[in-house]
Amino acid sequence: MRNIHTSVLEAIGETPMIQLERFGARVEPTLLAKLEFTNPGGSMKDRAALGMVEWAEREYALQPQDEIIVSTSGNLGLGMAMVCAVKGYRLTCLVDPKVNPSTERCMQLLGAELVKVDEQDHTGGYHLSRLDRLESLQKERPRAVYLDQYDCQAAIDAHRTTTGPEIFAQVEGKLDAIVMATGTGGSSMGVAQFLRKHSPKTEIWLVDEKGSLALPDNGGAAPRFLNGLGTSIAPANFGGAEVHQYVDHIVYVNAEESIAAAAELALSEGILVGGSGGAVVHVMKNLVASNFQLGSTILSLIPDHGSRYTQTQFDPEWLCSMGLDVPSVTYSTVVKQDA
Ligand SMILES: Cc1ncc(COP(=O)(O)O)c(C=O)c1O
Repeated sequence: MRNIHTSVLEAIGETPMIQLERFGARVEPTLLAKLEFTNPGGSMKDRAALGMVEWAEREYALQPQDEIIVSTSGNLGLGMAMVCAVKGYRLTCLVDPKVNPSTERCMQLLGAELVKVDEQDHTGGYHLSRLDRLESLQKERPRAVYLDQYDCQAAIDAHRTTTGPEIFAQVEGKLDAIVMATGTGGSSMGVAQFLRKHSPKTEIWLVDEKGSLALPDNGGAAPRFLNGLGTSIAPANFGGAEVHQYVDHIVYVNAEESIAAAAELALSEGILVGGSGGAVVHVMKNLVASNFQLGSTILSLIPDHGSRYTQTQFDPEWLCSMGLDVPSVTYSTVVKQDA
């Protein structure tokens, strides 16, 4: 029998790349999207989750039923739950109210225990509250292994050794720019490190949400709405000022333009992406593309699928409750707007 994997973990990676002919019809360069939601756990974080658990197995000689703890706003938790289910480890996910109900439920169905914090920290996020709770959890469970995705060479390495080479092979070494969403920085730094070495002329653009404190020279803390983007701390994954060795441009987006772009991509290409995917295709089309000519190629890395967000960013009532105005997202349908 051919092409049969011995576990779902072997199906991680080798995600498709799609040319966005309709979405990018009015810009000169060719726009591409790499669809990381086709990973079996539904996002690019599957790669990091597998890399992190394999690292922990080497570092801590994990045994079946050992416990792993992660702090997650969703996708890493799902990826970890999938990996831990296959490998027989117990998983505890520290989560907060920004995690969608369906994502929470999926983590539970994959066997994870959820510990939830409810209090916002002083930056308007939940990250610092999660870290407080982590401290008490580690005291309660001293044998559990905490894997910190914000300071994680294994996550960076997973993307440096899988996502980066896949991209390079798919574009046959010809890529003028790449646009990536950043949260912990694991995916973007891994891909950026690979491309800097093997394709040094590729411009590297990072996209974060306004109000995030992740990167140097951010504009200060403010409430954020998009899952996956932004942090209340500066993750060690970026290496402080070292990030500038790997990154050419940092762009801040707001939730409204990102969600609107996700809606536009859905209607024009039939690809429903989450808010961070909307953010990168928005930046790719409306900012990066004008710097390149016909014959150039620009790629967006799409972190996850929009079906995760039907009760949040694609729900008009939720948008209204958050004070967000995205006229193209309505109850009946997403309204096509003249570009
Ligand atoms: C939907 C989504 N977008 C973007 C990101 C950012 O990825 P990273 O943490 O690798 O920077 C994440 C991370 O969890 C995510 O879940």
